[in-house]
Amino acid sequence: MSQKNILITGAAGFIGSHVARLFVNKYPEYNIFNFDLLTYAGNLENVKDIEAAANYRFIKGDICDLETLRYVFKKYDITHVIHLAAESHVDRSIENPFVFIETNVMGTANLLQAAREHWDNETDDHLFYHVSTDEVYGALGETGFFTEETKYDPHSPYSASKASSDHMVRAFGDTYGMPVMISNCSNNYGPFHFPEKLIPLFINNIIQKKSLPVYGDGLYTRDWLYVIDHATAIDAAFHNGKVGDTYNIGGFNEWKNIDLVKLLCSIMDSKLDRTQGESEQLITYIKDRPGHDRRYAIDATKINKELGWYPSVTFEEGLEKTIDWYLTNSEWLEHVTSGDYRKYYKKMYG
Ligand code: NAD
Ligand code: DAU
Repeated sequence: MSQKNILITGAAGFIGSHVARLFVNKYPEYNIFNFDLLTYAGNLENVKDIEAAANYRFIKGDICDLETLRYVFKKYDITHVIHLAAESHVDRSIENPFVFIETNVMGTANLLQAAREHWDNETDDHLFYHVSTDEVYGALGETGFFTEETKYDPHSPYSASKASSDHMVRAFGDTYGMPVMISNCSNNYGPFHFPEKLIPLFINNIIQKKSLPVYGDGLYTRDWLYVIDHATAIDAAFHNGKVGDTYNIGGFNEWKNIDLVKLLCSIMDSKLDRTQGESEQLITYIKDRPGHDRRYAIDATKINKELGWYPSVTFEEGLEKTIDWYLTNSEWLEHVTSGDYRKYYKKMYG
């Protein structure tokens, strides 16, 4: 088998850092290149533990810059891509859709083009693995699940940009015969999650006794997956999935936001030696997110049956590990919540 030189884009971000860590540690024979622009969401502290590994290298770069991508593909003879770099926060996409279109659509197209040029119709032991989201499928009612066959119906600028990137990946597969694969995953949580997303934002606010801004009636439902289980699912599909296929990844774990927030409050009260019920007092219902999708729920039967993947931790275990991580890594939290973060917070929540 030939040498695998894998470009992982966005590996200084939340999920990418876990994927890079898994691949660097599990496959010392692979060369792993972390290609990341280090936007507000990218942080080299997330990959500190692997930075000295012999099979790991960080490259600061922009997926919107085709010339740089061409150079990197050639210089390191990139054979595989795991593409996670993106603008990922729905609320930010509502504020400014264009950076989402630029990064998620144009950036993905650039990356596909750079791979196509460098691979020059080579398909053996080459793969463009695109990491996408369940949000491309739109919103569910009270019942039903998203399968790999569900029609795309995105509602936010974020999900529309991700849907568009998925279409572009399939188009390069169909048109140029490129070896591509896509996975669409539900909501992740875990260490290194940027505190603009529900779980880390609320953990941080509970620590600081700040209000917990629940959108609308709080009855929106998400399917939560521990981030390391997402990384192992990507590992399974990358190595054993069928080229050209799509895999849905989910936690078999649906929670209404308000129930999740109450559970979080209760665990945090115990951890912080506060009276049970104290943190719940911080819950404040605020104006809803425009175009808010009511319910997401992934049917992950295909990846389970075909590749034997299943989440390894229960939600209660994962949430506890996550809370413990945030409580013991207060420095990380302080670093990412200074500067621009404060301006963002003020603008979003007043
Ligand atoms: P994140 O926002 O934490 O990280 C994104 C990373 O991409 C950052 O390190 C950032 O610096 C980098 N980046 C942004 N623009 C770039 C550019 N132009 N060039 C190079 N790098 C750039 O995101 P995340 O939550 O880790 O999500 C990673 C991927 O997984 C995204 O594609 C997202 O759509 C997808 N996804 C996320 C979730 C989730 O729950 N977070 C669920 C399903 C799918
Ligand atoms: O489903 C996968 C998607 O999950 C990923 O593709 C996205 O990158 C990721 O950000 C996430 O999107 P969500 O919009 O579902 O995640 P978020 O953490 O922003 O919100 C989760 C739910 O909590 C959602 O119903 C909105 C609500 N919410 C969120 C925030 C930030 C609140 O009620 N208050 C808040 O302050």
